[in-house]
Amino acid sequence: MDIAGKVFIVTGGASGLGEGTARMLAANGGKVVIADLQVERGQAVAQEIGGVFVKCDVSSEDDGKAVVAAATAQGKLMGLVNCAGIAPAVKTVGKDGAHPLAVYTKTIMVNLVGSFNMIRLAAEAMCRNQPEPTGERGVMISTASVAAYDGQIGQAAYAASKGGVVGMTLPIARDLARNGIRNMTIAPGIFGTPMLFQHAAGGAGRAGRQRALPQPPGPPRGLRHAGAPDHHQRHAQR
Ligand SMILES: NC(=O)c1ccc[n+]([C@@H]2O[C@H](COP(=O)([O-])OP(=O)(O)OC[C@H]3O[C@@H](n4cnc5c(N)ncnc54)[C@H](O)[C@@H]3O)[C@@H](O)[C@H]2O)c1
Repeated sequence: MDIAGKVFIVTGGASGLGEGTARMLAANGGKVVIADLQVERGQAVAQEIGGVFVKCDVSSEDDGKAVVAAATAQGKLMGLVNCAGIAPAVKTVGKDGAHPLAVYTKTIMVNLVGSFNMIRLAAEAMCRNQPEPTGERGVMISTASVAAYDGQIGQAAYAASKGGVVGMTLPIARDLARNGIRNMTIAPGIFGTPMLFQHAAGGAGRAGRQRALPQPPGPPRGLRHAGAPDHHQRHAQR
């Protein structure tokens, strides 16, 4: 897609992958709407890249509608990149007993329901676009994780949420193909973001310790080099 002059929503755009995506789109002439819970950071990034910030919980219908309205006010909404996400690390049964259901539910709400909420609302707006000469009306990219396929200890909620993102990708793509809207999902391994560094540093208090890492595919643990301990994996197994 020719990015220049088009409008893109980036959820989770205040940090990490979303921030990088927002900067890339702006550097290529796109108009970016950052949708994130982090107000100060989101506003700062938006200002730097000449974009717009909208405070948004992706799992809220009202917030999602406000983001799409802000985007269409900027011009032709042609893209949504779903990067907002949380990664709690909790075992099915841990020291304190059974996995809190509220943590599981929240993870599904943000990572899975939140992604779908933004997709459905952005797609509704894109369906009204005049198609490009190529017939294209828009593109949507969501972020799953290698944990969708190979979740580690403590990742029941995270892996389930990302597995859901993977699972809905094809039916959504089929739903929207006739409208000229593409839908796809990436499933990355580990990369360096605040989510990763907070976890690797042991985090701040309980909230920090609850952050899990998506695990990269790799050789069986026994084949890892003895001098290069996979401390990320050890953290996730706490
Ligand atoms: N970092 C990794 O190693 C890794 C690997 C695989 C997949 N991922 C996925 O990539 C995506 C981006 O992660 P990141 O590493 O950049 O993390 P990050 O913590 O740097 O960024 C996530 C952003 O999402 C925002 N957010 C959280 N809950 C939200 C909500 N309810 N509504 C709106 N915004 C919300 C946060 O405020 C934050 O700005 C996530 O979906 C994550 O699961 C990350």
